[in-house]
Order: sequence, then C-alpha cells, then structure tokens
Amino acid sequence: MMKYFIGNWKMFGVPRSIKILNRINSFRSTDSNRNKYRIVITPPYTLLETFAKKFRDKKIIIGSQNCYQKEKFSSNTAAISPYMIRAIGAKYTLVGHSDNRAEGDTNTILKDKVKFALQNNLKVVFCIGENKLEKKNNKTFSVLKNQLVKVLESKFNKNNIIVAYEPIWSIGTGKIPSYYELLNTSSFIKKTLKKIFKKGSPEVLYGGSVDEKNVHVFREIKEIDGFLIGGASKSSKKFIDIIKNYYR
Ligand code: 13P
Repeated sequence: MMKYFIGNWKMFGVPRSIKILNRINSFRSTDSNRNKYRIVITPPYTLLETFAKKFRDKKIIIGSQNCYQKEKFSSNTAAISPYMIRAIGAKYTLVGHSDNRAEGDTNTILKDKVKFALQNNLKVVFCIGENKLEKKNNKTFSVLKNQLVKVLESKFNKNNIIVAYEPIWSIGTGKIPSYYELLNTSSFIKKTLKKIFKKGSPEVLYGGSVDEKNVHVFREIKEIDGFLIGGASKSSKKFIDIIKNYYR
C-alpha cells in the first residue's frame, strides 16, 4: 500500500527554500524504500509555480494549501482557483485545513472546493479534525462524521481524494493521540468513508505534531496511510528522518 508523506509549509518559505526540497529529493532518489511512498509538499502560493516547474520531472509532487471554490477566473481579490493552480503544474490541493475553517470555510464552501478542485484534475487532501473542547465532551466521532458526510459524496472520485485527520488540539502543540485513540478514530473514519463511497474508501492520513521521534507510534496502525506534516516539514533533516524512522 502506497504511503504519503505530505509537508504543509503553511506561511513559510522564500525562493531559496527550494534547497529543502533538493535535499529531500536527493535522499529519496537513493532510498531503497522509495517505491513505497509518495512525497507531496504544499508551499505557499508565492512559491507554487517555481517549485512545480523545478520538480515537474522529479518525484516530489507540489500542491497548494487551499483553493477558491468556484469559477476559473473571478473578480474576487486574492482568490486563486483550482484551474490556476493546475495550470502552473501543481497536482494536489489541501481543502478544509482547520486554519481555513477557522477563517470561515463552511461545509457548503468546502464541498464546492472539493468538487471544483476535482473537476480541475487536482487531487484533494481533505482535512478534518475535532477541537479540544469537542474531544473533552466526547464529541469527536460526531464532529468527524459531520465533517465527512456534509462534504464528501459517493459521486466524487475517491481515488482522487485523501482524507487527513488532524485533531486541532494536536496541531503545533507537541501533543499526539495515544495509540488506541488513533486506532479507534482512524477505524471510525475508514468505516464512515466506506459508507459514503460504498465500495472502498480514500486513504486516511494523520496530521498533528508528527515528528521524527513519534512517527513510529503510528506505524502499527494499518488504517493510517501516511502523514500531513507541518512544523517538521520545514527542515529537510526532520522530514527525511520521519521517512527513515517510519521504515526502520
Ligand atoms: P504540525 O505538524 O506543525 O502540528 O502541523 C500539522 C498541520 O497542521 C499540517 O497541516
């Protein structure tokens, strides 16, 4: 089963930061496990075209962190459409990251984003996750179910969708779910996805404080098909060590 290591740079990087990708690419090209995983990096929009061009024929795939929900072109200031993202050679987009949900992305908007991104031949990494209070009140499953059911539909091509489970309380905090917590939650997500998509289901990634020291915890959970990595993806050494330690 193909695994994913997706690095979400968030608001980080300038043109010379390409050296991080160059180092990751050199590691990958000689890594004996390289055919078992896929690397995707989502830099900010300002670097998308340069990185996508530079890595067009290489094995690091470039994606965007968000996209606009409708129209190829529009009069909406600062909006970037999936059409524009695909046109410069990026192949993936994140949709529904908790940062964007916090800024007003509702389920209705997210559904349009997923639909429009798919129509424009982008692979979608759809992010879901509960916050600290929801977890405390035992609402995790109902929150996740709602986020999945309200946005995903069986008519979407499941092969072009990946779901990333990112508990908000874990993002950037150094806190991660316990092995059993994640085992239960990821099985619940897979089960819910199988109901939505009837046959088979999209891959499920985990995101939230993943680093080179804790990645082994997740290795045994077969429902987890890879990782969405924030902070640690800004260091080539940490990102490479995450991959190395995963396969150790
Ligand atoms: P951290 O790995 O920094 O916790 O971020 C996770 C994340 O939000 C990736 O999208």
